[in-house]
Amino acid sequence: MDIERQFEAAFSSITLDNGQPLVSVEPEIVHGCVVNNDFAKITLILPEDSPLRGSLPAQIEAEIKKVEQIERVAIEVLAAPPENNQSSQSQPAQPAQAAPQQPQRTAYLQNYEAVIAVASGKGGVGKSTVSVNLALALTQKGYKVSLFDADIYGPSLPIMTGRRGEKPSVSENRLIPLESFGMHTLSIGNLVEENDAVIWRGPMVHQALEQLLRDTNWPGGDFMIIDLPPGTGDAQLSLSQLCEFTGAIIVSTPQDVALIDAVKAAQMFSKVEIDILGIVENMSFFTCPKCGEETPIFSRHGAEEACKKLEAPFLGAIPIELQVRVGGDEGKPLMASNLDSPATTAFKNIADNLVKVLEGE
Ligand SMILES: Nc1ncnc2c1ncn2[C@@H]1O[C@H](COP(=O)(O)OP(=O)(O)OP(=O)(O)O)[C@@H](O)[C@H]1O
Ligand SMILES: [Mg+2]
Repeated sequence: MDIERQFEAAFSSITLDNGQPLVSVEPEIVHGCVVNNDFAKITLILPEDSPLRGSLPAQIEAEIKKVEQIERVAIEVLAAPPENNQSSQSQPAQPAQAAPQQPQRTAYLQNYEAVIAVASGKGGVGKSTVSVNLALALTQKGYKVSLFDADIYGPSLPIMTGRRGEKPSVSENRLIPLESFGMHTLSIGNLVEENDAVIWRGPMVHQALEQLLRDTNWPGGDFMIIDLPPGTGDAQLSLSQLCEFTGAIIVSTPQDVALIDAVKAAQMFSKVEIDILGIVENMSFFTCPKCGEETPIFSRHGAEEACKKLEAPFLGAIPIELQVRVGGDEGKPLMASNLDSPATTAFKNIADNLVKVLEGE
């Protein structure tokens, strides 16, 4: 069965608790449906007080996941159809195009010159460390920078910037980002209790991210740096629909296991037409503080090789340094510490290289 029919069948099989078929409800609940490879985004229109908001999204998600090629589903629930009708891509009667469509971009964050995702295939390779310190290096060069922690499963920005437990203020129903080290920052970790976020499912992740973009007074500026969770899951795909990325930076350690995942992450971004701005090799080597000898703990130069394969720029290598880890744990990032070390030089160079890539040099 072709994908259009599978979508039709999936929507037609859904009945509400009162036995009414979903597709016969007036006004229409399913407002739009976008398919991009194995990802489907469904937009529902349900009034704020509708009891269907509780169970219907999960019911639809379960049915749509039965469609052969669909592995990931994001459900957006709006109280009313968007005025400019941007997401009325197709109607439930003819839901998905057989050929994968380009995602419709709602394009939040348009008040930034560059919106940059910091991503990795593997966890724990230093995305958050790179996001914070690169954002600071750019701030120190005079750019106006915001930093958004989109790691909905394990937000680390509040700890890394010393803002753990702090809630952003709210003005006219909009969140006001925190100000840390000359940047505007916000993390889901500033909004929910620690450990709550880890149990979130796809649609909730999408809604949470959309809220953080839509309902926050992001001030705009030169750079919006977005720290992503590891891998190629719901958050990455949701964000690729929600904002127009200038591109992604992939962070990897030099080991093969990390690099294989880094390549996968890069390929995922290419699929959703997001440019790879470059790869950063983190934990490249350790310099003995006593004798100065360099030890390539996780091997070395692997990321440069991966760059050749992906035809992506190599942005730079960051050594393992005690102060990088201590700065992260103590809420005062290395780049805010006025230290002069190989890692601070590395972050400055990466910021320069990024600017060059963006200027097309
Ligand atoms: N260059 C470095 N030198 C020393 N420690 C580092 C370096 N880079 C990262 N670390 C430390 O490694 C740990 C993991 O880093 P980080 O949290 O930035 O990774 P991540 O990729 O964001 O992880 P996750 O996938 O969990 O989000 C942290 O304790 C951090 O301080
Ligand atoms: Mg992280």
